[in-house]
Amino acid sequence: MFQPLSVIPGFDLWPGLLDAQAQKGLLEAVLAAADSAPFANYATAYGKPMSVAMTAFGPLGWTSDAAGYRYAERHPGTDQAWPAMPPALLDLWARLGDPETPPDSCLVNLYREGARMGLHQDRDEADPRFPVLSISLGDTAVFRIGGTSRKDPTRSLKLSSGDVCRLSGPARLAFHGVDRIVAGSSSLVPGGGRINLTLRRAR
Ligand code: SIN
Ligand code: FE2
Repeated sequence: MFQPLSVIPGFDLWPGLLDAQAQKGLLEAVLAAADSAPFANYATAYGKPMSVAMTAFGPLGWTSDAAGYRYAERHPGTDQAWPAMPPALLDLWARLGDPETPPDSCLVNLYREGARMGLHQDRDEADPRFPVLSISLGDTAVFRIGGTSRKDPTRSLKLSSGDVCRLSGPARLAFHGVDRIVAGSSSLVPGGGRINLTLRRAR
């Protein structure tokens, strides 16, 4: 494991950590998961559907509707448990997330051309001492990260297929989002776009 780039304190980036074969393996796992747990564009608290489509691996997935945001044990469309976490993700978390406590959720975000994610904090998890580990697959994202106050200055960086980054410590509750996707920058995802996986310990 090579040393990450410390972009800001607590926000570490491993560019190209996953090779082409590892990326392909995770993509296959996502496509298989989406057969039983279809991607859905959940409504935000404001009632508008998100441009990012989501599904999940592991005991908990994330859903949102008029009643609010939450982690849930079942896919809201199928009422079935989420697909099991692929072993490669459990390994990655053990190395870069937490060596003792496994993740209980991996959110899968699908960004087709034009999708974006507004600045937000990841604060639905019970214990922020656990990091959030993020894996990028497919098209490059223009990612934005700031501080723990919405008013803090932000900086933007590109996240490419195979990049892994981690929000921990002073950056665990940093505001972050995705301004846009660079459409056509990768051919990994069938139909085009970007898939982002975030491993978390939610409960
Ligand atoms: C997220 O904040 O949930 C997603 C971040 C990303 O897509 O890189
Ligand atoms: Fe997030």
